[in-house]
Amino acid sequence: MQVIPDIEILDDPGRAPARGRAGASWKPEELDRARTTSMEAEGHRRVYIETYGCQMNVSDSEIVASVLRENGFGLTRNEEEADVVLLNTCAIRENAEQKVRRRLRDFRRRKRASGSAAGGPALRLGVLGCMAERLRARLLEEEQLVDLVVGPDAYRDLPRLLHETDDTGQAAVNVHLSREETYADIAPIRYDTNGVSAFVSIMRGCDNMCSFCVVPFTRGRERSRPASSILSECARLAEAGYKEVTVLGQNVNSYRFEEEGACVDFAELLRRISFVSPELRIRYSTSHPKDCSDDLLRLHRERRNVCNYIHLPVQHGNSEVLERMRRTYSREEYLALVERARALAPGISLSTDIIAGFCGETEAQHRDTLSLMEAVRYDYAYTFMYSERPDTYAARKYKDDVPEDVKKRRLGEIIALQQRISLERNQEEVGREHVALVEGESKRSDRQLCGRTDTNKMVVFDREAYATGDYVRVRITGCTSATLLGDPLGRETLLECAASAAA
Ligand code: 5AD
Ligand code: SF4
Repeated sequence: MQVIPDIEILDDPGRAPARGRAGASWKPEELDRARTTSMEAEGHRRVYIETYGCQMNVSDSEIVASVLRENGFGLTRNEEEADVVLLNTCAIRENAEQKVRRRLRDFRRRKRASGSAAGGPALRLGVLGCMAERLRARLLEEEQLVDLVVGPDAYRDLPRLLHETDDTGQAAVNVHLSREETYADIAPIRYDTNGVSAFVSIMRGCDNMCSFCVVPFTRGRERSRPASSILSECARLAEAGYKEVTVLGQNVNSYRFEEEGACVDFAELLRRISFVSPELRIRYSTSHPKDCSDDLLRLHRERRNVCNYIHLPVQHGNSEVLERMRRTYSREEYLALVERARALAPGISLSTDIIAGFCGETEAQHRDTLSLMEAVRYDYAYTFMYSERPDTYAARKYKDDVPEDVKKRRLGEIIALQQRISLERNQEEVGREHVALVEGESKRSDRQLCGRTDTNKMVVFDREAYATGDYVRVRITGCTSATLLGDPLGRETLLECAASAAA
């Protein structure tokens, strides 16, 4: 029987964070769990995948689903009927790891029960992704929790590893980090059943070595996927009716690929994607301020379908802390970049990531973060309490010396300030018009739809005769700090928007 995939993200917590499903990077706290839904799988071993962490992990799970389907596995949304459970994990902060470990313990109980009750093969339990390399010894030996440990560059090996663990009864492991793997030739199975927004992974790994960050250790060296394969994937998505792609990487704007003697950088890649279809909107996530070129900034204005929004993580507002974080820019340089962005792409909306309570952070340095937020007036901020990660430069060289209660209080101040600024920014939108791409029904009422503006703001409006996937012109009539409310004025195409903007 032909296996037909049908996968969607189920849990609300991960469903519509401010940056949305394919809007930009979800943070681990926001994306609680993504699960596969059922598919025809009679006669197949059924795999249940649960995804934790960022958008890259969501995109990776789509690759895993594809690899497994190609090898005769079925997928299920129902963990109870699964023969294989795979948790695609995140290691960025300690609480993300703890969440996965709790879940693993639940499944271990089930695994024990399934083996003894049926007398047949027990449930197979696998850990994929960022926790794989770091915790393999602990997961396999000390805690005997899992049968499979597979790192982010070894997903092609999953079918073989599954057979190996079946044959030997021993755990199977591949945590090799590659310098080449980009899964360029694998057509991901989309989790997104609304058929409107999709993730497209363009690079993997990170060479930046920010002192607090574990990603370079868990995901390895930076490598870019061939531009031609990215463009073909975007073209296939546009043909299939998708209206928005978010191109993904740990640091997308250091994308670089040499093809046919020419070097394609990130701005050029985006420009090429923007010509795939005039009706395909493009977002990207996540970027590093040091690599944000003027060419890239200009593209937001020049190409109508490159969304007027950048996620530009600052991490901190004090230059000395930024230096210890190894971010390679100062407060002043960051502020100058924001000014340039607003000059080259008027009306661009900005979001950021901020860490509270990094090693050695003084009260005055914390206040510099608050004052930077006031200076930039971000539309949205993703905020975190510093969490020491093993092996990182910060863990080796600095003391995690800001007491927990102080970290919490500082984080609280950052969140409260951002809520006030987000509300004010949204209030400025009242009376303006935007074109929103409809993502689906609003959470509150089936008589309303929600969609995202070009500037990545969620807007809710009456359903009337509009449908998911429509571009709808909306006049903003009200707001909260998280959502705009609007009146729909009519369906549009992006080409029409471009024409009216030019007139
Ligand atoms: N502690 C807290 N936040 C972190 N991030 C990365 N590493 C840590 C850490 N050790 C945050 C950064 C990054 C986002 C994805 O997660 O803000 O941009
Ligand atoms: Fe981590 Fe810095 Fe790389 Fe982002 S740029 S993944 S924060 S090391």
